[in-house]
Amino acid sequence: MKNWKKIAVLGSGGWGTAMAMSAVSSGHDVTVWSAFPAEIERIVSTGENPLLPGIKMPKELKFTSELADVLGADIIITAVPSFATASVVAKLAEAGIPESTVMVNISKGFDPSTCDRLSVTIQKTLPKNKIVVLSGPSHAEEVAREIPTALVAAATDKETALMVQDVFTTPRLRVYTNKDMVGVELGGAIKNVIALAAGITDGLKLGDNSKAALMTRGLSEIGRLGKAMGGNEKTFAGLTGVGDLIVTCTSMHSRNRRAGILIGEGVPVEEAIKVIGTVEGYHAARLAHILKTKYDVEMPIMDACYKVCYEGGNPLEEVTALMTRPTRHEDDDTWLN
Ligand SMILES: NC(=O)c1ccc[n+]([C@@H]2O[C@H](COP(=O)([O-])OP(=O)(O)OC[C@H]3O[C@@H](n4cnc5c(N)ncnc54)[C@H](O)[C@@H]3O)[C@@H](O)[C@H]2O)c1
Repeated sequence: MKNWKKIAVLGSGGWGTAMAMSAVSSGHDVTVWSAFPAEIERIVSTGENPLLPGIKMPKELKFTSELADVLGADIIITAVPSFATASVVAKLAEAGIPESTVMVNISKGFDPSTCDRLSVTIQKTLPKNKIVVLSGPSHAEEVAREIPTALVAAATDKETALMVQDVFTTPRLRVYTNKDMVGVELGGAIKNVIALAAGITDGLKLGDNSKAALMTRGLSEIGRLGKAMGGNEKTFAGLTGVGDLIVTCTSMHSRNRRAGILIGEGVPVEEAIKVIGTVEGYHAARLAHILKTKYDVEMPIMDACYKVCYEGGNPLEEVTALMTRPTRHEDDDTWLN
């Protein structure tokens, strides 16, 4: 029998709801909270989440817009867009969340005001609570349909990572552990920028060669920054690195890729973001730019994305600029060493 838990999910979007459904399927007591009562009313009255069309909510899954209803949970999952994580966690702290509650972050991005990884933001507000990051190649639409998926539970505390692995593993969701929180979070946050760029190449009608080159060189950039920030290089070859990059850059489920396609087709950036909704890659492009400057890391694809997103750069000209950079050795090594 499972290590049964009372679980709360903050954010009734596609991803929060899909993970809540998965936890309900293994018998946990799960409540989804939203700051917006209208979202909850719509889900409860229709039995469906509009972000997961055609999927019926299990009757055991509870919904609320009262934060007080989630304070007794053993585990609280944060599943709001990265720009809202700090404010939602501040509300939890104000409401008096117990120190024993384990926080599990499943959002991907950086805190927009500090550039912190989201687990750092949560830890700063809730210094006594244990924190786990659950990440990996996972479209909400597929997890909600119980399509086999593998994730990684990353934490510095082994026992907490093992507990989260046990709680969230189902016959359809295989959870690995990893102690490299930096690597796991960076992979999840920055691949969204590469997915935006992959969408742009699709919108420009470039080919498979271009996308493969972009994804591979993009992974190199993620690894370079990750290493500079203290992450483990092996993590970037794993589920939360190359795995998440593949799933996001190649699927129409990805809002980052879909926004990129519109941009590549000539839709102005702000308009494309407005049409698609939560596009973490757009925000991460600005924050990755700050981080690469701070850690003095060469990231030409990130530079190009930053120019397109924030400086009116022309996508095709940026592709040409990337292709005509000085030639170099493939990895960061050289012939001389
Ligand atoms: N959708 C996926 O397949 C998927 C998979 C893995 C990770 N993620 C990550 O999970 C996070 C959420 O993504 P999503 O797809 O569920 O987004 P979504 O747009 O479907 O839902 C976001 C939820 O956050 C809430 N929210 C928005 N702004 C808020 C605010 N200021 N205060 C409080 N709540 C607010 C919304 O009401 C909604 O309930 C993102 O970081 C995303 O990168 C998504």
